[in-house]
Formats: sequence, C-alpha cells, structure tokens
Amino acid sequence: MNIYVPIILVSILVFIALLLILADKLFGIGGEKVITINDETKITVRGGITLRNALAQHKIFLPSACGGKTTCGYCKFRLIDDSGLIKPTEEPFLSDEEKRKGIHLSCQFRVRENIKIEIPNEYLNAQEYKTEVELMKDLTCNAKLVRLKLIDPKTMNFKPGQYAELKVPGIEVIRAYSIASNPKEANHIEFIVRLEPKAKSTGYVKSLKMGDKVHVIGPFGHFYLKEDSKKDIICIASGSGKAPICSILYYLKDTGMKRNVKFFYDAVSKADLYYNDEFIELAKQYPNFKYIPSLSSPLKEDEWKGEVGQITDVLNKKTDDLTETEAYICGSPDMVNDCVNILNDHKIQKENVFSDKLSQD
Ligand code: FES
Repeated sequence: MNIYVPIILVSILVFIALLLILADKLFGIGGEKVITINDETKITVRGGITLRNALAQHKIFLPSACGGKTTCGYCKFRLIDDSGLIKPTEEPFLSDEEKRKGIHLSCQFRVRENIKIEIPNEYLNAQEYKTEVELMKDLTCNAKLVRLKLIDPKTMNFKPGQYAELKVPGIEVIRAYSIASNPKEANHIEFIVRLEPKAKSTGYVKSLKMGDKVHVIGPFGHFYLKEDSKKDIICIASGSGKAPICSILYYLKDTGMKRNVKFFYDAVSKADLYYNDEFIELAKQYPNFKYIPSLSSPLKEDEWKGEVGQITDVLNKKTDDLTETEAYICGSPDMVNDCVNILNDHKIQKENVFSDKLSQD
C-alpha cells in the first residue's frame, strides 16, 4: 500500500472534524444565540452555557444566594413561548402557577436556541461593584457591622430595604445581605452580618479587615419603602431583620420623618439590642416616631424596664386600627407569618403588608 494513504485518510478525518466543529459553532448548540430581554434588549451569547452565566457575561445580574448551586431559588426568569419542560432540580423552587407561567431558574437553563425572556426591569440596574472595607465593628457576640466604600462604580442607587450580594472569593459562594445604611449616603453600603457558624461566608467576613477589597453585586429585592405613600408606618424586625429596617428608618429620618412611624424590635436579651440608644434618641427627636423594643428573655443584670415577651404579644398590645397603615416586616419566616396574623386582626389591608423572610442557614 502507498505509504501516503494513511496520512491522506487521517488528514481527511481531521478536516471533517474541523468542519463539524465549525458547523456546530455557527449553526448548532455551541453557535451564537440571541436572547431578547423584556422585548427590548438583545444580547448575543455562546450557545450551551447557562442563562445565568450568559447574562452575567453581559453585566446583567440575576439575584443569587448560592452562586448557581441550585440551593437558593432566587435566579428566576420567565421564558416566553415556553415548552413547559421543568428540570427536577428546578421543581422544589417553583409553584404550580410559576410553572404555568414559564418561570425557570436561570442557573439550570441552558441557552440552546434563540430565546425571549422576561426579567424584572430593576435587575437591569444591578451591577458588580469593587469595594473596600471601611469599617468592621462588633454589634453583638454574633453580629458584625461591615461598611464597604464603593470604589468602582463609586455610588449605588438602591431603595431603602433592598439587598446586595457579597462574593466570597475562592469558594464561589455568593451571600445575600440586606443593606442597612441610608440610600442617601450612596458612596458606601453597610451590612449587618450574622456570624452563623455553618455559613461558608462567615469565615470570610470574620477575616475581613480595613482596606480589604470586596466584590458586591446589587441592588436587588422587592422589599423596600414605598416612598410616595403618606400612610402611617409600622416596622417590625427581629435578629438581623433589623438591617433593612435600619435603612428604611435612616431614610425616613433623612427626609424629615414626615410620617407616623412605630418600630417594634425583638431581641433575646439586652446584649442583642444593638443601636438601642440611637433609636431612643431618634424617638426623642421626633415625637411621631415610636420605638418599642422588647426582650424575650432579659437577664437579671439587664435591669430591663421595657416590654418583655414574644414580639407578637407586644405587637398585639401596642397596636390599634391599621386600616390606613403600611407594615414592613423582616425576620424568620415563622416570625413574619405570626406578625402578619396579628396585623390582620388589627384590620391591615393585604396590599399594605411588605415582608422579607430571612433564610435560616
Ligand atoms: S443561583 Fe441559586 S438557585 Fe440559581
């Protein structure tokens, strides 16, 4: 046999393989795909990658608290003209109504063809920020204040009550934290971080020191103050649920505290009652602001003279008719549900209740 025959055969095979790769790039799954967002924005991405990554490459960030590991269920979007195929990994995070509407998890959805999607417009405002640690302060034995100076971009336009995500380097963890600071001070943001021993982000946050560089994505979230409303306000928080409520109260103070506000805050003992003096002062300054802290298990040395017991009991005791009142509640899912039941007993209108249920990890 001619010695050139095998060489020619191999060359033909390599040529065919290259042709197939090229064809796949141009016309197949790996080729370019167009994503139309909210009927307006079009982006071109490489086929086969997850929608979450495809959007992130174009600086469009969907919320996430798990970095794409399918444990948070935050990264939802709506697929227009959806065929209805739901992956088993998506199942636990989607209600029947969401499935009917074509909602999916973007970290589980691969872009295999041109698609049209719908996402909340506010997600188009979320950006990745380079920040620097400006202040670290212990608030209680398991809660830390972390203030981050925004370096690039230099300001964040967020609404009081929204949250942002902290990227933990090395372990690809993203953790969502409510922003505790005043949106009017837009050149820095503050988080109140509960140091959960099991959370992967805890070690990272504990190790942070002044000047360290931190990446943040945001802002996100539907829990925020309705700034155009003139209704009275009732704010209810427990544990680290105080963070978004602080942001709301700082904003209200900054704009002259024009509405009647009651703030219920529940802690175990006095050591957990951070910012107590600050809110007592605020109540002295503005008679239309009422601060009602309560302790569920005060210690003898606390010499506590305020309210004692479950927050629901205190709320019930100190609340009148709520027909014309808005409520902002942040805490554990059980705490939020129990408080909503009490508010319902006091005739609050369903559309005036806004809540943020904190994950328990
Ligand atoms: S990013 Fe957490 S489930 Fe998709």
